[in-house]
Amino acid sequence: MDLPPRLRRAVDDVLEGTALSDLAATAEALSQRYRAERHDAKLHAISDRDALAYLAVRLPATYAAVRASFDAVAEARPDFAPTTTLDIGAGPGTALWAASECWPGLADAVLVEASPKFRAYGERLAAGLDIPHVTWRVADAAGDAVDDGPRDLVSLAYVLNELPPAVRHSVLQRLWAQTADTLVIVEPGTPAGWQRVLAARSQLIEAGAHVIAPCPHAHACPLQPPDWCHFAQRVARSRVHRHTKRTDVPWEDEKFSYLAVSKKPGTRAGARVIARPRKAGGHTTLKLCRPDGSASDQVVSRRDGAQYKRARNADWGSLF
Ligand SMILES: C[S@@+](CC[C@H](N)C(=O)[O-])C[C@H]1O[C@@H](n2cnc3c(N)ncnc32)[C@H](O)[C@@H]1O
Repeated sequence: MDLPPRLRRAVDDVLEGTALSDLAATAEALSQRYRAERHDAKLHAISDRDALAYLAVRLPATYAAVRASFDAVAEARPDFAPTTTLDIGAGPGTALWAASECWPGLADAVLVEASPKFRAYGERLAAGLDIPHVTWRVADAAGDAVDDGPRDLVSLAYVLNELPPAVRHSVLQRLWAQTADTLVIVEPGTPAGWQRVLAARSQLIEAGAHVIAPCPHAHACPLQPPDWCHFAQRVARSRVHRHTKRTDVPWEDEKFSYLAVSKKPGTRAGARVIARPRKAGGHTTLKLCRPDGSASDQVVSRRDGAQYKRARNADWGSLF
């Protein structure tokens, strides 16, 4: 997946004049921080250089993960057409860009971000969007009351892991109360990220939420450690990205876990493909999570006709 061209250009403009070699070490520290799941309660963008490194190396990946999660909502709820949105821990506005690509009718957005640096860059990027009302708030989502009205779409992307564990429950409770329709949570696709998503899932089901995606059911998750539910998006790396990451590989795979819950049930059902399909001559093996709450491999062979064709076209993350 590529960044939308307008966002790509806006990011390139912001990075213009920045010595990429300066960003490389910061970007490496940022990536290590993600890989190690280090949560030292320091907000990411405390320095200008951190924020620029995030734009260069993390934004394309988090954009792809959030966009894929929103696409899954749009697939399960084709009737959903949000006009208002609230994004918590907005960073440079990643989720707003993904939402506006997915739902062009968005008219009013509130973005809450603790770091003034991120907010400043986010505001600059969002100037290129056609959303009539975009309001940024520098606030601590863990403590401050962030927005009063209910919003059609509420998102929390790559933020749960930054909130102290003791406040996650109350933050989710507040966000669910502010959700008029759908709440989407995205986390890094690590076993720990999945555990945070599972805890949120149990809490929200108990609060009456309908699970929209990725799970095709509200039963207990059938996966057991060391397995975990996650997805991957292939992200094209720009020249700046490759340079900052000191690599020639033109793409990277962003692994993510997510959950979309809604006040209304989904209208499209099916099993979810929860691993990369294994395609061999004459048959394809899909690992499926099913509406009855079970998960296992299904082998679909050429003899299965139309179903085989669908299996050949299935991707990791799609409905089958
Ligand atoms: C990893 S970034 C994710 C940014 C963006 N959502 C994305 O997906 O690219 C996490 C963001 O959450 C913000 N954040 C962390 N804790 C927060 C809090 N308590 N209140 C508001 N923002 C917070 C950080 O400043 C940072 O911008």
